[in-house]
Amino acid sequence: MPLTIRRAVPADLDAVVAIAHLTFPLACPPDAPAEEIAAHLANVLTREAFAAWLADDDHIILLAELDDADAAAAADDAAPETVGYTMLVAGEPTDADVAAAITVRPTIELSKCYVHPGHHGAGIAHELMAATVTAARESGVAGVWLGVNDENARANRFYGKHGFEVVGRKTFRLGSRVENDYVREKALI
Ligand SMILES: CC(C)(COP(=O)(O)OP(=O)(O)OC[C@H]1O[C@@H](n2cnc3c(N)ncnc32)[C@H](O)[C@@H]1OP(=O)(O)O)[C@@H](O)C(=O)NCCC(=O)NCCS
Repeated sequence: MPLTIRRAVPADLDAVVAIAHLTFPLACPPDAPAEEIAAHLANVLTREAFAAWLADDDHIILLAELDDADAAAAADDAAPETVGYTMLVAGEPTDADVAAAITVRPTIELSKCYVHPGHHGAGIAHELMAATVTAARESGVAGVWLGVNDENARANRFYGKHGFEVVGRKTFRLGSRVENDYVREKALI
């Protein structure tokens, strides 16, 4: 599989925003209102926010890209297809529930982990997670934590498979709704 995983740079802004907006709704509970999801995209996952994160050393965004060999042969400038991304955020958690739950420090948050729905179950998420854990390790932390909606069975199964144990719970605000997340942690030592 011609899959490349690399750290995103500011010039990747369009690709990062596109994959983020395509995939965020997939992580929401089935009963989350479409208008709340749209508001989150418009107010939180903005171009400006991603531009700032891409320019900040404490945010590590990895892109998974698939090369289409046929398209590349037909056109010199055929761009790879962005099929997933992750974002790590360095620093002590600001959420009190998370700070109380995690057991390993220093830590880093796996804040985003998303694969294009056309490529689920194909091993891309596995490769992306492996590269993300390597990037976390290289940043010098002893553990990685994440929050995941407690109704997101697929993601919970995926994180469990990759060694992220449930260590607590937290809430997540989606517009006017308060969603319930598991806090999961993977020790790197
Ligand atoms: C989470 C995500 C990155 C995982 O990638 P993936 O390619 O789906 O991962 P995998 O197929 O390797 O693993 C998913 C596991 O859940 C299982 N699964 C699939 N649907 C499921 C369901 N409805 N309930 C429970 N488990 C389910 C799969 O069988 C697989 O387990 P297995 O390998 O033991 O068979 C991807 O599904 C995704 O992008 N989801 C949408 C965005 C999201 O929810 N991100 C997480 C935000 S915290």
